[in-house]
Amino acid sequence: MTSIDTHAFWLAGRQATGETTHLVTSPWDGREVGRISIPTDDQVEEAVAAAYAVRDEFAATPAHIRAAALDHVSRRLVERTEELARLISAENGKPMKWARGELGRAVSVFRFAAEEARRHNGGEGQRLDTDAGGVGRLALTRRFPRGVVLGIAPFNFPLNLCAHKIAPAIAVGAPIILKPAPATPLSGLIIGELLAETELPAGSWSILPVTNDKMPALVQDERLPVISFTGSDKVGYAIMDSVPRKHLTLELGGNGAAVVLEDFASEADLDWAATRIATFSNYQGGQSCISVQRVIADSSVYDALLPRIVKAVEAQVTGDPSDDATDVGPLVSEDAAKRVEAWVDEAVAAGAKLLTGGKRDGAAYAPTVLTDLPADVTLSCEEVFGPVLSVQRVEDEQAAFDAVNDSKYGLQAGVFTRNVQAAFRAHRNLEVGGVIIGDVPSYRADQMPYGGTKQSGVGREGVRFAMDDYTYERVMVFTNIEL
Ligand code: SIN
Repeated sequence: MTSIDTHAFWLAGRQATGETTHLVTSPWDGREVGRISIPTDDQVEEAVAAAYAVRDEFAATPAHIRAAALDHVSRRLVERTEELARLISAENGKPMKWARGELGRAVSVFRFAAEEARRHNGGEGQRLDTDAGGVGRLALTRRFPRGVVLGIAPFNFPLNLCAHKIAPAIAVGAPIILKPAPATPLSGLIIGELLAETELPAGSWSILPVTNDKMPALVQDERLPVISFTGSDKVGYAIMDSVPRKHLTLELGGNGAAVVLEDFASEADLDWAATRIATFSNYQGGQSCISVQRVIADSSVYDALLPRIVKAVEAQVTGDPSDDATDVGPLVSEDAAKRVEAWVDEAVAAGAKLLTGGKRDGAAYAPTVLTDLPADVTLSCEEVFGPVLSVQRVEDEQAAFDAVNDSKYGLQAGVFTRNVQAAFRAHRNLEVGGVIIGDVPSYRADQMPYGGTKQSGVGREGVRFAMDDYTYERVMVFTNIEL
């Protein structure tokens, strides 16, 4: 920090300040959480030039140095858990129980990246004498960084989604310029504090809270051939259209569906499904790309499931995110809550039945359950990114899968079933990046591939999968080898 409340940014591995500042406030009570310094155009240029200049040196930096740096960040996050969880909660409005969970996940992301860095790029040998023309030849394929990564992170997981961009880049030896979200920059800047304690080469990482209006120029910069963006489909596709030749990872929206099939019908099963659905339609105020937005229930379980869902949703504790008992805090801003309110009001005016919720108080929106949602309202077509759930009755498994696929998005789906054949049918038929059997679509382990199909994006995160995205295969062929 440069003064009592102005946080510096990280330019080529060292602290720097610009000429202007930006105030970060709590979405819950508007209190000032911190003030950040904004880099000037010259400072952004300096960071990009430094990253570009160090790219060969960084790619050649031994794995043990990169792995040690990643392990260090992981350990330091553990040491600072409570302090950093409070920071996430303060700037994002996320309840403490979810902020602590996010912290724990970021610890794992850096640890996974350290482990992967040690395994990465031993290469894969392949004999070529399987055809006459390849006699005496051997191929060795290794992966090399595509170049400097531009990471653009969202507000909803202000620490862990920064970690998902930075850690794989360090693991493969690709320099990274990270831009945290304007609403929640402080958590991402903390990663800089921890990386600054390591031996990574200067220039290999920068964390720059660049304002959104400056991003088009940065996106266009040819020294940054890889862009990893998490955010809205609107912005993601604008990036894709503006730089169609760059390598892009786009983690965009979703309107996560939880399917409850006929066999998931015991009292215990229905209680479990209802509890999980209620929790994960409301966690972080529903501001997750894989929160439950749609429940699609077989008609044989619908009548028993619906009241359980409503009861479980009403049991969610709303309020001050700094309180350990709180399940659901505010949305990221009052504007976000007003948008959710407008979408629910539109749906109700068009004939949807409101079973609970439907009320806004400042930036907070009450956990909401709807049925009979008309197909053409905004809530049916778009990602709500708020604590709103609709429940739909379907006649059978095929109708349930068709309903899941009746969406422009395809990120993750949950299928509550104990039938292994149904699980495999779901895996084959659902047009999504991940199918979670026996649970909600919101389950994510940070080492598994994560990303979507259709308008949910391209590419994959999940440490090893992002490392693949940040690199490309380069084959070397040996000639006249005695195999
Ligand atoms: C997202 O909102 O895309 C991230 C979800 C998660 O990491 O759990």
